[in-house]
Amino acid sequence: MRPQITVLDAGGQYCHLIARKVRELGVYAEVAPSETHASELLSAKGVIISGGPSSVYDSGSPTIDRALIAQEFRPESPAVLGICYGQQLIAYLLGGNVQKGLKGEYGLAHLEIAHQGTLFAGITGRQQVWMSHRDLVAGAPDGFSVLGSTETCSIASIENPAERIFAVQFHPEVVHTLCGRQVLENFVFGVCGCEKDWDPTGQIALVEEQIRETAGDRRVFFFVSGGVDSTVAYTLCLKALGPDRVHGVYVDTGLMREGETEFVRDAFAKLGATAFQVHDAKATFLDALAGVTDPEKKRHIIGEAFVTVQEQVLESEHFLSGDWILGQGTIYPDTIESGGDKIGKGKAEVIKTHHNRVAGIQKLIAEQRIVEPLSSFYKDEVREIGRELGIDPALLSRHPFPGPGLAIRCLCTTETAAPQTTADGWIVPIKSVGVQGDSRTYRPVIALEAFPESDEFAADLINRIGEVNRVVVRVHGDISQFRVYPATLTATRLDRLRRVDAIVRNASLASGFDDTVWQFPVVLIPFGTPDKPDSVVLRPIHSVDGMTANAIRIPDALLSRMVEEVALVEGVAGVFCDLTNKPPGTIEWE
Ligand code: XMP
Repeated sequence: MRPQITVLDAGGQYCHLIARKVRELGVYAEVAPSETHASELLSAKGVIISGGPSSVYDSGSPTIDRALIAQEFRPESPAVLGICYGQQLIAYLLGGNVQKGLKGEYGLAHLEIAHQGTLFAGITGRQQVWMSHRDLVAGAPDGFSVLGSTETCSIASIENPAERIFAVQFHPEVVHTLCGRQVLENFVFGVCGCEKDWDPTGQIALVEEQIRETAGDRRVFFFVSGGVDSTVAYTLCLKALGPDRVHGVYVDTGLMREGETEFVRDAFAKLGATAFQVHDAKATFLDALAGVTDPEKKRHIIGEAFVTVQEQVLESEHFLSGDWILGQGTIYPDTIESGGDKIGKGKAEVIKTHHNRVAGIQKLIAEQRIVEPLSSFYKDEVREIGRELGIDPALLSRHPFPGPGLAIRCLCTTETAAPQTTADGWIVPIKSVGVQGDSRTYRPVIALEAFPESDEFAADLINRIGEVNRVVVRVHGDISQFRVYPATLTATRLDRLRRVDAIVRNASLASGFDDTVWQFPVVLIPFGTPDKPDSVVLRPIHSVDGMTANAIRIPDALLSRMVEEVALVEGVAGVFCDLTNKPPGTIEWE
C-alpha cells in the first residue's frame, strides 16, 4: 500500500506514534528517514517531520531534503507539518530564528491560540499541550504567521498556508495534548485532503494468503516469548498452515516472572499448538551474567546468550534444513529501529536489544526463508488482529514485558555509598536512566519522605534540580539508615525480585487496579541495611504505547497491603513509589 502520509524520522521516539495516530484516523501512514529525497515523497499527500533529540545547530543533526519546503519546488509537492524538532528545522532552513535552549521544557503547558488558521480549526480557548524540547523558535521565517504561544514558548505554532507548510512546537501525537487528534485531523483531512483507506483487521485474509505463498510446502518455526506479537504472528501461521506445519520454541532464561513458563505453555496449548516445546536455558543466562553490574553490559550479555541458545536450538532441531522457514513477530516499528530491509536504518533511538544477529537466523534471512506476518502493523493493530483471531483477551491485554526480563529490573552496583540529605529530599546515589529531550542519561534519584500534593511536583523538581532524573517517595523503611551496597545479579536477588513482583502483581490484579495500568515494573535496588540489602520500587504507569508515560498513584489501601506483604520478603529493607513521568524518566530503571 502506498502511504498517503509519510512521517520523516528526525530521531525522536515519537515518529512512530505520529504514524500510528494518523493510521488511527483511518489513513495509511509510513515512517521514512528524514533525509528521504523529495522526489520520492511526491506520491504522499502530506509529510510530517517528527520531533527528535538534536539541536539544528549540532553537526550531523537530522535534516530534510530542502526541496520539500523550498518555494521553487512547491506547490505540487505534499503539504508539510513539522512537529517539535520538525518546527525548529523548518524555521532554521527557511531563515527563521532558532534559539538554543539550555535546560528545556518537559511536560504540560498551556497553548493560547492567537489565530486559528487551518491547523487549529474547531479548536478554541486555552489548550493543554505536551512539550519536550530544549531549543525554541524565536523568530518565524518570512511568509509565516504565528498561530499560538505558551507561557515559555512565544512561537508554539507557525504556518504558511499559501505554501501549505505548518509547524507546532508541542506534540499533537501524545494523549496529553488534548486537542492533538483534532490538529492531526485538520492536517490530514483539511490540509492534505486524505481519504480513509486503512483498517488492520481487513488485512487478515491477505496476510494469511501471503504466509501460504511464502511458506510454499515448507514448515515454519518460531522462537516465541509469550508476548502479544509472537503469539499473534504464530496464530496467523497456525490458521494459514495448520498445527502440523508450525513449531514453537520457548526459551526459559530464568529471568522471567513467577509462573511465566507455565502460563505460556498453557496459552499455546489452548491455541491448538501441538508442536510447542520449552527449552530450559536458565544456567546459561545466569552463568553469563555472574558479577556484571553495568546495565548496557547486562543487555549485551543477554543478547549474546540468546544468540548462543538459539544457535543450539537451530542445530539440534535441524531447523536450518531446507524444509523450514523462520516465523517472527516483528512489528512495524522494529523493521525501522533495527535497520530492517524495508527502508534502511532510521534514526529512532535503538533502545531495545535485537536478537537477530544469530548466524543461523542471518542465513535464513539472507535466503529469504523468513515470514513476518505483522511487519506492517503497530502494536495496537496487532491486538486488534489478535482479538479478531479469537486469542484469549488475558494474553492480548498482558502488560508489555522487556526481553531481558527481570535482569534490567534488578539494579546492580560496585559501590558503597550513603544517601545525601538536602532541602528537597534525599539524593540516593543509585543511577537510573532518564530520557530528557530523548537523550538517555544515567543520574541519581531523589527520594521524598511523603507524597507531594500535586502530580506536577516531580516534573517541576527534576526541571529545577537537573542533576537527578527520577523522584521516588518512601513508603516503608528508614532512609537515614540505608546505604547503597555492592550487588550483582545473583539467583538470590532474582528470586527476591520474582517473589516481590508476584506479590505486587497478584495484589494489583485482585484489586482491579491492574486494569487501569499500562505497565507495572517492580524494581529491586541495592539500597538498604547490612541484613536487608535491597529496596523495592513500585512503578505503575499509564501510557498509550510506552513512548510517553504518566506515573500513577496506587490507592492507599492497596499500597498498604502490598507494603505489608513485600516488607516480609527476606532481604527487603524499604519500599518506594516512583512518581516520575516519561519524559523525563524512562519507564524502566535501566
Ligand atoms: P523505557 O524504559 O525505554 O521503556 O521507557 C519503554 C518500553 O520498552 C520496554 N523496554 C524493553 N523491551 N527490551 C525489550 O524488549 C529492552 O531492552 C527494553 N527496555 C525497555 C519497557 O518495558 C517499556 O515497555
